[in-house]
Amino acid sequence: MPHLEDEFGDIIGKARTGLRLSLEQLAHSTGISIPTLSAMESYTRKPSREEAEAIAKELNLHPSNLLAIAEERWHPAPWNHNHDPDAEVLRWEMPVGAYSAYCYLLRCQHTGESAVIDTGGQGKRVIAQLRQHRVRPRYILVTHEHGDHTGGIDLVQAETGATILDGQDASVPKAEQIVDGQSYALGRLKITAYSTPGHTAGCISYVAGLTAFVGDTLFAGSAGRANYSYTALLDSIRNKLLTLDENVHLFPGHGPVTTVGQEKEHNPFITA
Ligand SMILES: [Fe+2]
Repeated sequence: MPHLEDEFGDIIGKARTGLRLSLEQLAHSTGISIPTLSAMESYTRKPSREEAEAIAKELNLHPSNLLAIAEERWHPAPWNHNHDPDAEVLRWEMPVGAYSAYCYLLRCQHTGESAVIDTGGQGKRVIAQLRQHRVRPRYILVTHEHGDHTGGIDLVQAETGATILDGQDASVPKAEQIVDGQSYALGRLKITAYSTPGHTAGCISYVAGLTAFVGDTLFAGSAGRANYSYTALLDSIRNKLLTLDENVHLFPGHGPVTTVGQEKEHNPFITA
């Protein structure tokens, strides 16, 4: 079974720092010691059911969803590659140091027109994939401007001549700025930009039919780190992404592919 991007320790660390609580404050309110909490956040100690429930209560996380991830009992169903008869999605893993990020290609099944979503840190690898699949993307869609997602963008743009679309904090050279709700045609697909701030101020998710590219806003069974705003991040997840059709497949920047339906049922950042 492929690993989730985030473990129990990541989830509670993101929620705790998002709420601006110190370990000391969380220890005080849960009755769990600071060293124990610290060991949990650094993956060296698993919580008991009672501990997970106490932490979930203080961090406004869904208790049984959190426990299921702590006990490694939940994982999204394997990605159904035929999830949308109108769209094909290819996923390419791009190593960045010790980690990796996903770059995606979205292609209209009817016309073959395509778009790259994020270019990873290594443009040459993306170009090699594009050549191998004989595609020349019309757009490069930027979910957010972090090096592990945009590092290769100049090379890919120079090679393909694609139009770069980026959100409100657009600083990528040559990018066309897009705003919430704006749509672009890609063959018979209609790609709509959803402003999903939280991880960064300008995070954009791209939705086309039953396909959504969510960058680092949401991970299967977790959320991105709230570098910009935790309140905004939760709002983007709960009130934007998870109001889409349950069958919409969510393609994150890291970790496995999931669906709106599965996240509504299993994500710990969903309130009980
Ligand atoms: Fe990021």
